[in-house]
Amino acid sequence: MRPAQQNDPVAEQLSLFRRVGYSIFPGMARQPEKRRGYRHFFNTLILHFRPRIVPERTLRFTLTWGLGGMAVVLVFMLIGTGLLLKFAYEPFPGRAYDSIVHLQNEVLFGQLIRNIHHWSANLLLVVVFLHFLRVFFTGAFHSPRQFNWIFGLTLFVTVLLSNFTGYLLPWDQLAYWAITICTGMLEYMPFGGAKIQHWIRGGTEIGPATLSNFYAIHTAILPGCVIILMAFHFWRVRKAGGLVMPRGPDEDAPSRGETVPTIPNLILREVVVALVLIAGILVLSVVLNAPLEAKANPGLSPNPTKAPWYFMGFQEMLLHFHPLFALFVIPFLIMCALVSIPYMRYPETTPGVWFVSSKGRRMALTGAVTGLIATPIGILLDEYVIDVVAWIPGIPSLLSNGVIPLALILAGVWGFYSVMKRRYGASREETVQMVFVFFLTAFVILTVTGIWFRGTAMKLAWP
Ligand code: HEM
Repeated sequence: MRPAQQNDPVAEQLSLFRRVGYSIFPGMARQPEKRRGYRHFFNTLILHFRPRIVPERTLRFTLTWGLGGMAVVLVFMLIGTGLLLKFAYEPFPGRAYDSIVHLQNEVLFGQLIRNIHHWSANLLLVVVFLHFLRVFFTGAFHSPRQFNWIFGLTLFVTVLLSNFTGYLLPWDQLAYWAITICTGMLEYMPFGGAKIQHWIRGGTEIGPATLSNFYAIHTAILPGCVIILMAFHFWRVRKAGGLVMPRGPDEDAPSRGETVPTIPNLILREVVVALVLIAGILVLSVVLNAPLEAKANPGLSPNPTKAPWYFMGFQEMLLHFHPLFALFVIPFLIMCALVSIPYMRYPETTPGVWFVSSKGRRMALTGAVTGLIATPIGILLDEYVIDVVAWIPGIPSLLSNGVIPLALILAGVWGFYSVMKRRYGASREETVQMVFVFFLTAFVILTVTGIWFRGTAMKLAWP
């Protein structure tokens, strides 16, 4: 282990801060015992959660981009602001909207608290998604981290559900109709979909029981699940011996390399990331208010009626596939594929290396460009050219909009996979990454199309 103080720029900076601090507050220097007491207390507290030392090479910012830590900060900001919002919010259809208006106009910093909660929730989705990508692209899902990949996926779904259940609470037109659309989709779920829909709505229609269900799930059940899952998530990171280890330039296998004390090396970096993030959210919340449309009106549906932005990829798919395929078969296949990623047989792996190798990078780019070109072409062909029902009269829509297009897409991807594998002489890891990037790009294009390129009656339109 390297001595922490010698030639350590961080320690030098700390010592400079300390000297400046003593010159401003001389009392601090005169009470060394007391000072050591506080510091000892906080250090011991931190070391209950964190390892005493960490490998120096895992401190490199570009390994993680601080994304996991940012997700933690956002979760705590959401819990904090959520608790404050509970003092003003009333979960009854007749009063929910008015309580939000009252909070925004009459309560000191009410609008700011609501904005922070809103923007943190949306940012959390983006940050968790980016963290998921970083884990995938640095190969941090390989053994012994495969369980943590599964915990992570569960966390992702929990965060999505938290956002979704919070969406209804303001009880404005946006919320009411988005939730009507999304819970309506459950009808197409083959086994017990109608029952789940009835349970979550608390009846056949969206009403007081729905709001009370969403409120309980959003403010008690899901935050509890997030906290428990996060605890498991961090425990698995510790069990795996810390973060995935980047391989040094001349090493055949990853090694721990030099280690440094967690305090101050890691903690200082984490505090900086957290403060920058909090400052960014504060600025955003001061300049941009969370949306609030007119009070929910069950008799007047907006046109178009859209799902929340993070579900727009699926709503767009609904325009091209049979609902059973768009809402259940395809998401189910996506989930199975994601869960199985760490359990595939990889003859050789390169954990800790972004995009596996330079060949992996080229292949990932090819996957992205193919997805970028093929998806809009597919959308346009389906919208304006392909009309299977006119071509084959009487064909059931489960075949014309489900089995046939899905089989064609999967066959196309399989052909692409085989050609690229042979052309590049690629490893399993490189080809899996390329296919992942292809589907990822396709999903992003579907989401963007749904959000910005769909107008009245969900027809394609220029934004
Ligand atoms: C609320 C959601 C999440 C939180 C708060 C969270 C937090 C964290 C933190 C703090 C770390 C360690 C440092 C870092 O990578 O920045 C980490 C590592 C990890 N996370 Fe997450 N995470 C979340 C979601 C996910 C998701 C969606 C996945 C993937 C499906 C995932 C998989 C992993 C894995 C495999 C590691 C170990 C990475 C390594 O060893 O390099 N996490 N997570």
